[in-house]
Parts: sequence; structure tokens; C-alpha cells
Amino acid sequence: MSRRIHPSVAGAQPFQLAERDPEAPLFESAEGQERLQAVLSRYPTKRAALLPLLGYANELHGWVSTQDMESIAERLELTPAYVWSVASFYTMYNKHPTGRHFIQVCTNISCHLNGAQRVLERFLEETGTRPGETSEDGRHTVIEAECLGACGFATAVQINDEYHENVTPERVPQILAGLDGNGS
Ligand code: FES
Repeated sequence: MSRRIHPSVAGAQPFQLAERDPEAPLFESAEGQERLQAVLSRYPTKRAALLPLLGYANELHGWVSTQDMESIAERLELTPAYVWSVASFYTMYNKHPTGRHFIQVCTNISCHLNGAQRVLERFLEETGTRPGETSEDGRHTVIEAECLGACGFATAVQINDEYHENVTPERVPQILAGLDGNGS
């Protein structure tokens, strides 16, 4: 069933959804067309819709592929090189496939002083991965992140679009166990 996308939130839907479909067509579907039109209706120029559409690709597929960039470039009458230059500037657009649960552990100064390294190591240990690697079952990718803007709640961890604060190594198994239950 098609979700009605109001133009005011067309560029700000939750991203990296757990239910994403890496194989889904970007714009060649009713939902894709609706999303495209809703985003375009917000801006005076097509070029201005670039970031929201990169966000849409990231949300739907979990990352932004070269094919996605070409498809967006075509719709916005831009060159693929221009789209790539913008996408590569922002770390929030994944340029590689990620696991269904994309786990970003902040290891910047406040979190570092509060034991972030041990939190990171525990996530890697529990998921059986190395940094940036996706687990064999496709469920988890764990990376180190720069400051997540939650320095007062170190260690901060972002999983998809959800924040976890004051994370300790001891809490990691419980957080992982709760991921499938809440759709994060
Ligand atoms: S240093 Fe970790 S959230 Fe800012």
C-alpha cells in the first residue's frame, strides 16, 4: 500500500529503515514516483531536490549506488559527476552496502574519555565483524563515528535513525537483542 508523502516531510523521512529493500526500483514504482513528485514540489529548481533524493535512495536501499546517482542525475537534469561530488561530501549517505542495522559508535573526545573504545570493541565482538564489515547474515555493520552531537550522554551510539545514550559495554548485548523487536 502506498504511503501518502506530504511535501513538507518528503525530504525528512526516517532513513536507513530496517525494512528497506536493496533491490527496489528507485523511481520506477508508484511510491518512487510519489516521492519524487513530492520532493520536487517543495523547491523552485530541480537541482535543489538533490539532497532529499539522495536521502530517499539511502533510506530505500541502505546505501546510494552509482546506479542510484545516475538515476537521480537524470531526473534532476544534472551530471552524474555532480551528483557524486555532492554525495561523496556527506558521510550520512552510505557509498557501500551496509547491514540492516547500521551501528555507529562515537569515539570522539567525550565518548573516548568515557570508554567508547570498549563499547566499539564489544559491538564488534558481539556481531562477529570488523569495523565497516557487514556480518554474514546481513544484519549488522559497525563503524566508528565522529561526534554524534550527544557529548553529554557519552558513549553515544546511533543505530539506523535511533540514538542510544550512555552506552556501556555491558549494555551492548541487550541493545542488539532489542533491534529486531523495535524495527530499528
Ligand atoms: S563526542 Fe561522542 S557524541 Fe560528541
